[in-house]
Amino acid sequence: MPEQHTAPVRAQERAGAARAGAVAHPNIALIKYWGKSDERLVLPRTDSLSMTLDIFPTTTHVRLDAEAGHDTVTLNGAPATGEARRRIVAFLDLVRDMAKRPQRAVVDTENTVPTGAGLASSASGFAALAVAAAAAYGLDPDATALSRLARRGSGSASRSIFGGFALWHAGRHTGTAADADLSSYAEPVPTAELDPALVIAVLNAGPKAVSSRTAMRRTVDTSPLYESWAASSRDDLAGMRVALAHGDLEAVGEIAERNALGMHATMLAARPAVRYMSPATLTVLDSVLQLRRDGIPAYATMDAGPNVKVLCRRADADRVAGVVRGAAPGGSVHIAGPGRGARLLPGGGR
Ligand code: DP6
Repeated sequence: MPEQHTAPVRAQERAGAARAGAVAHPNIALIKYWGKSDERLVLPRTDSLSMTLDIFPTTTHVRLDAEAGHDTVTLNGAPATGEARRRIVAFLDLVRDMAKRPQRAVVDTENTVPTGAGLASSASGFAALAVAAAAAYGLDPDATALSRLARRGSGSASRSIFGGFALWHAGRHTGTAADADLSSYAEPVPTAELDPALVIAVLNAGPKAVSSRTAMRRTVDTSPLYESWAASSRDDLAGMRVALAHGDLEAVGEIAERNALGMHATMLAARPAVRYMSPATLTVLDSVLQLRRDGIPAYATMDAGPNVKVLCRRADADRVAGVVRGAAPGGSVHIAGPGRGARLLPGGGR
């Protein structure tokens, strides 16, 4: 009977929030994610570990529109187009599938990361979208399930679900796709007292030549250095967990720096090579070495772009920022501490 068929749907619609807002922050990996074992499920080859920042939040609102025939996506006040729109609509399709609700959505995102910063805005972006879209579509995932969901938008987003330091498990790559999907999630990492800061040098080298998605695929497929970096990254992770548990900032920094330089070495050996480092990157790396020679514990990490993030003690951050600013006169320098995980805004966000 039609009543029996439609009543649960109506009940479900009443139960669903239909509108939600969320905020999330970017994270910077100290043990990098570079290489997928499954493109569709966004399963990584290796575990990774990051610090969520307390600056550059992304705020996203999602509202269901029962009348609309397509999703409307606005990024920083302008309609999203191309690949950015395609990835967000594909993500919404996934959420609709999970919620068994077909309604299209109106998505409005404000990103505060400086333009061209290459600061993995996809991490804060998909973490905020996962939290807001899950709530708007009436799902009630716990943080682990949210990290798996955010992962499907962008791998690094899984870690921005959590504040402080977070570990993303590569998971099991055997068994069914569902097993693999369930076993790859992020979780918080306990740390002893560290009081860390990340000094972020935005070197303004314009948009990146190769997207991280394309670059990591090419690296896995063609770089003769990839497998040895992946193996050493597993050792780096074990060392990093011990260093964090002991609150040993020097060890955390040394491991993070070698892991990042190793990742860039794998890309330089890809065919054709992927090179994100610019002359300004090397100048800042030199200034970090000089800081260490001067007795300041400071360690560099870089992602899929020319910008450099320098890990140091909070107490040294102003001095480190001054030195980095001197080394990168054309850029901007920002100081970040450990930030909070992604969360819903109260009252549906409006
Ligand atoms: C270098 O998470 O942006 O920042 O999963 O393809 O969306 P996709 O990639 P993304 O890659 C981030 C790569 C990195 C290292 C890291 O954040 O671990």
